[in-house]
Amino acid sequence: MKPRIAVLVSGRGSNLQAIIDAIATGGLNAELVGVLSDQPNCAALQRVPQALRWTASPKRFTDRAAFDRALGDALIPMQPDWIVCAGYMRILGDAFIARFQGRLLNIHPSLLPKYRGLHTHARVLEAGDTEHGASVHFVDPHLDAGALIAQIAIDVRPGDTPDALASRLLAHEHRLLIAVLQLATAGRLYERGHGAYLDGYPLLNPLRLDCSGQWRAQSLPPSLR
Ligand code: GRF
Repeated sequence: MKPRIAVLVSGRGSNLQAIIDAIATGGLNAELVGVLSDQPNCAALQRVPQALRWTASPKRFTDRAAFDRALGDALIPMQPDWIVCAGYMRILGDAFIARFQGRLLNIHPSLLPKYRGLHTHARVLEAGDTEHGASVHFVDPHLDAGALIAQIAIDVRPGDTPDALASRLLAHEHRLLIAVLQLATAGRLYERGHGAYLDGYPLLNPLRLDCSGQWRAQSLPPSLR
């Protein structure tokens, strides 16, 4: 049986599309088993057949915990091995995270631990950074602060605007997400305690994907170089 992936989305869904495309072209040996959203009208949901969609507006629930419970109850029958937050803009509560911890991944558009939260591209420019990037991490109860798995970096160019930076980073984000999912679905990646492990080795620093899609040897645990 192929590893099963569910994806949580709130918006455009370009990362979801990267997963769909990678599965379709054989770059990712996995099955997409569900796409779940807190935004019933989001474009991302339109990228998959109705049968794969679950959505509900949080307004219909008394509180965050009730929405999270419904989201979790929808995920259980999908039997996902991995749950990917790909542009999922709602904070997940502790109970939800505890229910799925170890299989919950998030992609965030910054070189974490820098710039948790929103408006990362603008904040990079305001700070005058010369480098920007994206990170994939396990989700834990702290916003964008779970165990880091991998990153990709790009240069900030003179004249960059937040939009220019965001759109240049996006293709790299997609590449990073698929590269991490390849490791995850191959059974090479897991979370233990507060750390991420690859092939049984703790990732003391995040893996680095270069812009040609190769893992940088120096970023791999010594025994895997
Ligand atoms: C991406 O930049 C992702 O890193 C962030 O939100 C954006 C979502 O884009 N969390 P998309 O919906 O996957 O196109």
